[in-house]
Amino acid sequence: MNRVPALLTPTLALTLALFSIAGAAPRTLDQIRAAGTLKLGTEGAFPPFNFYQQKTLTGFEVDLGNALGQALGLKVQWVVQPFDGLLVALNQGRFDAVLASHAVTPERQKAVTFLKPHYCSAVNIVAKKGGPLTRRALAGKTVGTQIGTAQIPILQAIPGIKDVRTFPNDQTVLTALQAGRVDAWSSNGPVVAYMLKQTGQAGRIVIGEAISNERNAGAVARGNAALQGALNTAMARLQTDGTYARLSQKWFGQDIRCP
Ligand code: ARG
Repeated sequence: MNRVPALLTPTLALTLALFSIAGAAPRTLDQIRAAGTLKLGTEGAFPPFNFYQQKTLTGFEVDLGNALGQALGLKVQWVVQPFDGLLVALNQGRFDAVLASHAVTPERQKAVTFLKPHYCSAVNIVAKKGGPLTRRALAGKTVGTQIGTAQIPILQAIPGIKDVRTFPNDQTVLTALQAGRVDAWSSNGPVVAYMLKQTGQAGRIVIGEAISNERNAGAVARGNAALQGALNTAMARLQTDGTYARLSQKWFGQDIRCP
C-alpha cells in the first residue's frame, strides 16, 4: 500500500511520458505492417476488461484487441505490465497501442493520442453494507483506489475526505476493504460488479454513488496519427459488423458502447 504523493503522481507520469529518453521510438503503421505483428499493452488485473483466467490473458479488451489485429491483418502480441507505467511505456515504444480502460482526461491527452472511446462507464464508491456509499458519507473516511487512476484527484477533492490511499491493483483494494484497512473502495462500476460476483461478496459489499462518468479509450504514442486512424477505422468496423456487440454481450450481458 502506498500513500498518494498527492498531485505528484500524474504530473510526474506526464513529464516522464513527454520527455522519455529510454526505450525505442514508437513504431509507425508502415513499420508495424512490415513486421506483421501489432504489439498491444495492457495490465491484466482489471476484470472483466483485461485479466488472467488461470494463466490465460483474457477479457473484453483482450478480445477486442485480438479482433482489431485480425481486422488489420496483423498478428497480435500482448505486453503486460502494471497499470501505472502503461502510458510512459507506450511513448517509449514498448508496445504500439494500449487497451487498459484509460479514461480520456485532459492531462492524459497532453501525453498520448487517444483512440475513439470503446466504452463508457461510471466510477463508483464501494463499501461494506452500512459503510460510506456517497461523497458526503466519505467525510472523515479513508478510501482506497488503484495507483495511477483518473479517480485519484476526484477523490482527493471530496470535501472532508480523510485519506486517499493507493494500491497496486483493484484486488489489493478489495482485500484492504474486507480487512477494514480502508472504509471504501473506488473503481469502475463494471469491474467492481464482476469482482464482487466472482468472490461471492455481492450483498456484503455494496456499490454506491458514481463520482465520475468516463469515456474509456485505447491510445497510441503521442502523435502516431496513422496508427490511430487505422485502429479507429478497424474499431468502427467491429462496431458495425456485430463483433463488438457480440463481445460486449459475452462479457457484460449488455452493450456498453458510449451513447
Ligand atoms: N478508468 C480508470 C482510469 O482511467 C481506471 C483504469 C484502470 N485500468 C486498469 N487496467 N487497471 O484511470
